[in-house]
Amino acid sequence: MENTEKKKRILSAIQPSGTFTLGNYLGALKNWIALQDEYECVYAVADLHAITVRQDPTKFKKNILEAYALLLACGIDLEKSLLFIQSHIHTHSELAWILNCYTQFGELSRMTQFKDKSLKHADNINVGLFAYPSLMAADILLYQADLVPVGEDQRQHLEITRDIAARFNGIYGEVFKIPEAYIPKIGARVMSLQDPTKKMSKSDENINSWVAVLDKPDVIIKKFKRAVTDSEAVVRYAEGKDGINNLMSIYSAVTGKTNEEIEREFDGKGYGDFKAAVGETVVDMLTPIQNRFNEYMADKQYLEECYKKCDEQALYISQKTLKKAMKKIGFVI
Ligand code: TYM
Repeated sequence: MENTEKKKRILSAIQPSGTFTLGNYLGALKNWIALQDEYECVYAVADLHAITVRQDPTKFKKNILEAYALLLACGIDLEKSLLFIQSHIHTHSELAWILNCYTQFGELSRMTQFKDKSLKHADNINVGLFAYPSLMAADILLYQADLVPVGEDQRQHLEITRDIAARFNGIYGEVFKIPEAYIPKIGARVMSLQDPTKKMSKSDENINSWVAVLDKPDVIIKKFKRAVTDSEAVVRYAEGKDGINNLMSIYSAVTGKTNEEIEREFDGKGYGDFKAAVGETVVDMLTPIQNRFNEYMADKQYLEECYKKCDEQALYISQKTLKKAMKKIGFVI
């Protein structure tokens, strides 16, 4: 990573739960890549967060390495940024425990994601699922991050991170920087292709509802063709046209075109043409990523070199903050 003391710092992470979705890419990863020149960026594969739901050990291991390779393939440049594996950096679990003691039961109970996931995994509402936001706060605060690029669904977790940091600082002085969420104007909430009132999510059982970054071109085209729309057959952004609005947002996020430009482009054309065009632009965007992913996965030794180098630097940065916090609390260190 460059020596860039004046640059502001970015921190973000993603769970290694199989592949990434188009939602992950447009809501977060695209920004991760774009911000690398202007900021000092620190990114992580959030494997500790992933065990709040049960993982098959063999698959989990594979998913972590694939997530790492896919992030490199998306364009994370290790000449400019750090990309580490969360569980390799022990400071995260340690600060998370500390922050648990500065986080209230009531505020964690109000987290929408906790409520949603408790409904989905009613047989395994574990303490980790509940305390998930304080681990996320630890991830962010350890690096004194200024900005956190995420999709809209993480906004509440950013707010609680700010509250925890402010509470801690209120007791002990300026230990943590108070971070801000960095949420894109377009693509912050990519919706399901089958039920556009719901967020696109890889945990959705209907695989036609989400596009994976690693889906084959013909699969992507097919998923867009099957996307739920409405009966008006006019490509325009309007209330009540959730399906078309979602497709327009995707098209806009990928091509940079405004809604007006899209409406003009498809004036007089049907949904079939529009869906095909959205599918094709998404394929064009993802194909080079898929090719690079295959190259990275063919060189495991290189991947190991990458994360080991980044792990070292991440540990160095995060240890400073952890020690500072522990000293303030009164630990003998
Ligand atoms: P995760 O792994 O669920 O998602 C990774 C990122 O993708 C964004 N995202 C979306 N954006 C737009 N539309 C969608 N349909 C969509 N689905 C997901 C998410 O907002 C996120 O930015 N807890 C985090 C991971 C994490 C983290 C952190 C993030 C762990 N520690 C520290 C930031 C900072 C999570 O589960 O994201």
